[in-house]
Amino acid sequence: MAEKRRIVTGEREQQEVSYENRLRPQTLDEYIGQEKAKEKLIVTIEAAKKRGEALDHVLFYGPPGLGKTTLAGIIAHEMGVNFRVTSGPAIEKPGEMAAILNSLQTGDILFVDEIHRLARQVEEVLYPAMEDYAIDILIGKGATSRSIRLDLPHFTLIGATTRAGMLTAPLRDRFGVLQRMEFYTPRELKEILLRSATVLKVELDDEAAGELAARSRGTPRLANRLLKRARDYAQVRHDGRVTIDVAREALGLLDVDDKGLDSTDRRILSTMITVFGGSPVGLETLAASLGEDSGTIEDVYEPYLLKEGYISRTPRGRIPTAQAYEHMHIPMPAGD
Ligand code: ADE
Repeated sequence: MAEKRRIVTGEREQQEVSYENRLRPQTLDEYIGQEKAKEKLIVTIEAAKKRGEALDHVLFYGPPGLGKTTLAGIIAHEMGVNFRVTSGPAIEKPGEMAAILNSLQTGDILFVDEIHRLARQVEEVLYPAMEDYAIDILIGKGATSRSIRLDLPHFTLIGATTRAGMLTAPLRDRFGVLQRMEFYTPRELKEILLRSATVLKVELDDEAAGELAARSRGTPRLANRLLKRARDYAQVRHDGRVTIDVAREALGLLDVDDKGLDSTDRRILSTMITVFGGSPVGLETLAASLGEDSGTIEDVYEPYLLKEGYISRTPRGRIPTAQAYEHMHIPMPAGD
């Protein structure tokens, strides 16, 4: 029932939802990229619909900005159910989680972003909820206390995390679908940018779209952000049209280089090369040297640098590759 669908969020989340909402596709047909995930979801959604059951619980994992929340919203839309949004750190007490679960209707989707950050006791409320659609509530105190089981409607939990490795085994094992989100190809990003330009009513040249796509680190959120900045630049400094020249100037201002690396990416590479001399370095040591949060480096920066071959992992730590030296215009020491 599409008309009963609501997006229910807390106040803070509500702002975020409306901020990015316009660029977010609503259906699987509109969603570009992540072909493997889409194929799997099409089958799962159709099967659940045919059986008239709630969809199996789904876990999306991978670097930020690749469309985990968007896909979850699309699943709710395709199933014609309500979409409830919350996040791991937002739920502090087991009772809060119990209250959210108790307010769901049959088939509803509960989306928990950053699910690896749920407090242990809150997470434990999810175990019987996911497995048996029930919560155990403790009544009374001390020797007379007892637990009663409260039935829940059949719902779907969709979890998102940048760190699948940080999920506890009991939680991970309760998901029926585990889906890794992949970086997008420049071609997919270009298609997304051309679609976003239509939504934002900005004139974007084909060549400019290609340039922005090539420099968006495989990430739609970044691509859309660069498009908005290029649009600003085009409106203030030019005639409003994002041409290849406008795109290049805007990217230059944002310190995004020809390979799409930003100033933090380059600082990571130069620190590994000059401060640590290209020797293996641990994440915490590197983060301390950069004055950055180690989690941010691990989740946001490292995955793309690894994928593009600028750094590699060894048992003793991360090392910069020959490609990193070349990109930073620093000669690689002989014999390495
Ligand atoms: N906007 C952001 N991500 C998108 C995607 N994967 N497909 C279409 N539009 C998008």
